Amino acid sequence: MSLFNLSSVTNSELPKGQEAYVFGIFSDTGLTDEFKAAHPNLSKQINLALKNGEFKAKLNQSIVLYTADCETSKRFIAIGLGESGKYNSDLLRQASATAAKLAINLKVSTFAIEFMGENDLSSDDAQALAEGLVMGSYRFLNYKKSEDEYQGIEIVVVASDSDISDALTYGMHVAAGVVVARDLGNHPSNIATPTYLADTAEAVAKKGGMKTTIYDREDFEKMGFGGIAGVAQGSDVPPKFIVMKYMGGGKDSKTLGLVGKGLTFDSGGISIKPSAGMDEMKFDMLGGAAVLGIMSVVAETKPKLNIIAVVPATENMNGGEAYKPGDILTAYNGKTIEILNTDAEGRLILADGLAYITDKYELDGVVDFATLTGAVVVALGHRYSGIMTNDQDFADELIASGKKTQDRVWQMPMDDEYAEDIKSTIADVKNTGAGRTAGTIAAGAFLREFVKEGTSWCHVDIAGSGWLKKGRPYLPDGPTGAGVRLIMELIKSWE
Ligand code: BES
Ligand code: MG
Ligand code: ZN
Repeated sequence: MSLFNLSSVTNSELPKGQEAYVFGIFSDTGLTDEFKAAHPNLSKQINLALKNGEFKAKLNQSIVLYTADCETSKRFIAIGLGESGKYNSDLLRQASATAAKLAINLKVSTFAIEFMGENDLSSDDAQALAEGLVMGSYRFLNYKKSEDEYQGIEIVVVASDSDISDALTYGMHVAAGVVVARDLGNHPSNIATPTYLADTAEAVAKKGGMKTTIYDREDFEKMGFGGIAGVAQGSDVPPKFIVMKYMGGGKDSKTLGLVGKGLTFDSGGISIKPSAGMDEMKFDMLGGAAVLGIMSVVAETKPKLNIIAVVPATENMNGGEAYKPGDILTAYNGKTIEILNTDAEGRLILADGLAYITDKYELDGVVDFATLTGAVVVALGHRYSGIMTNDQDFADELIASGKKTQDRVWQMPMDDEYAEDIKSTIADVKNTGAGRTAGTIAAGAFLREFVKEGTSWCHVDIAGSGWLKKGRPYLPDGPTGAGVRLIMELIKSWE
């Protein structure tokens, strides 16, 4: 998706005749003297609107104004930035998303942005601004054949320092990865099949000089992938176990492992889900989508480290050979699993993914992403992902990255004793927890059994954060792309 062409200029270089000029106003400090001097008539209009209380410059509030006596643009869009004391980069991410949406609605094809006056864009600000523009303008129109093709926007960011152009470009790459994840989530399960995910992985790998290995149903037995083999039994759609290898670092570089749940449709299997809302279970591959989104940013930005990514991908269906409650599966690391609910399938395919990646590769840390439990939505809603870990220092790194990017994570406890909740009477573990209690943690404790001893690991449950019923400025309704910004920030600090 290239809705934008983004560049940065200083005020004196700004081309005349922009279709819109976007600027930010703090609710407490109002217009800058600089702005008032440059646009006296417009300043009067805005001050009137402020005085009347129609426009309070609250965060994400906007007002469109017209003026005849400005060469840069006849149309101005003021975006509220809220109180100046509460300013942070995320507010800019939100404000630029608000501006991009408005510009699209107005069908403008060029606009200039000057959020912070001439001087104040740090490189974090610039990255956030670019992310907000791309993420905020996201629309998924692939199946709306009647919709007009939108031609896109030429955007110039006005700043004193054109050095921000690298940060703008980086922000656009990160957001493009978010878009990859969102698109994969939006495509229905008859399009975004495991094969589609594998093809996406191969296309990304080709671009980024990565290697891929794709294991098919026929390979599962000899590989020992009993978890995904069991889940895939009920579906005629071919499952795929996707492995991607990116070697961007030297000998002393770190190696990051990523695992994503690529469950392309979750009917629940024999423990079938109710029909109301079952359509949403096309989103059950958002963990895998996040991993592919991250790898697509990596393909573009080529960070200096190594990354191994694994996406076990299958449907969970009810065909004649479907696995059943009471069945026992054996995962890649040899541990046996008693199935007590076929709807707890994500942990089974991740068990193979985590056991495989931590057995085959020497990792400095592995992170898995999954829309794993309804319980995490009850606990945290749609704002934070739930994280669990076997290494507090590693979790702290992710928590810090979540704060910085606002791709937020909240840690759940996972003391050793939670292992009691997943004890089976007949096998090593069972795939359900202790009734209705601590369902998210039980799933985490289950996964922990499949991470090789000594490997630092974080599990990120994105069942709530991964998709929204009702969007927010830079997050649309539907899939959000949770996890992409989180990991790109971790990667920055690992390079
Ligand atoms: N994909 C679901 C989790 C889910 C539920 C994601 C709601 C998004 C919204 C997962 O496979 C599942 O069905 N989990 C069960 C586990 C239970 C049977 C132990 C759940 O959370 O109910
Ligand atoms: Mg399920
Ligand atoms: Zn599922």
